[in-house]
Amino acid sequence: MLECRGITFSYDKNHKKLFQDIDLKINPGEIVGMPGPSGQGKSTLAKVLSGYLQPQVGTVLVDGSPLPAGKNPVQLIFQNPEHAVNPHWNVRKILNEGGIINPELSKNFGIQNFWLDRFPHELSGGELQRICLVRALCSNLRYLICDEITSMLDALTQAGIWHSLLQEIEKRQLGVLVISHDNALIARLCSRVVHFFEDTGK
Ligand SMILES: Nc1ncnc2c1ncn2[C@@H]1O[C@H](COP(=O)(O)OP(=O)(O)O)[C@@H](O)[C@H]1O
Ligand SMILES: [Mg+2]
Repeated sequence: MLECRGITFSYDKNHKKLFQDIDLKINPGEIVGMPGPSGQGKSTLAKVLSGYLQPQVGTVLVDGSPLPAGKNPVQLIFQNPEHAVNPHWNVRKILNEGGIINPELSKNFGIQNFWLDRFPHELSGGELQRICLVRALCSNLRYLICDEITSMLDALTQAGIWHSLLQEIEKRQLGVLVISHDNALIARLCSRVVHFFEDTGK
């Protein structure tokens, strides 16, 4: 399982802690929801869980061991796919970052062959998000952290992406954290919800 124990984080040690003493476990095949309003630290926790940020206190473990160097079994998918790709690379090169391009996976995510020679700015947001997902899924992925991954997209595109993704989650028994301010989406997708970031009603 993916497990974090007693995580405390602040960006600046002179300032107040963004969150403290967070414990979370995600089992393979389990989809866990994490709702919460903007600015409370959800994306920061997502980066801690995937090894991009080091917490001041606490540990992140995959099957009892720290995150390995090299290809990360915990992949983070960002809200804005433009921030997750090199704008100077074409789609073929971007996908190759994850490993060998898997034609069946590409087909399931509706990736067209002629996109491979395009650059990120020549794709829609939804198309580019599919590329980011397939790139993550081409690697030795075990856990997926989805940080508002469809929040920028219309309802139809959102449904299409989750439809493709749910098939892979089921087939490969991936553990998934779904971060979203959309409670209806979380209710539909997740078997369990963690409430670390509550709406204070302000
Ligand atoms: N790199 C950073 N350096 C300093 N403060 C940051 C940084 N990234 C985010 N923050 C601050 O941390 C808080 C939480 O941000 P974030 O984790 O993005 O929240 P959320 O995803 O819940 O909207 C915000 O107040 C934000 O301004
Ligand atoms: Mg965020």
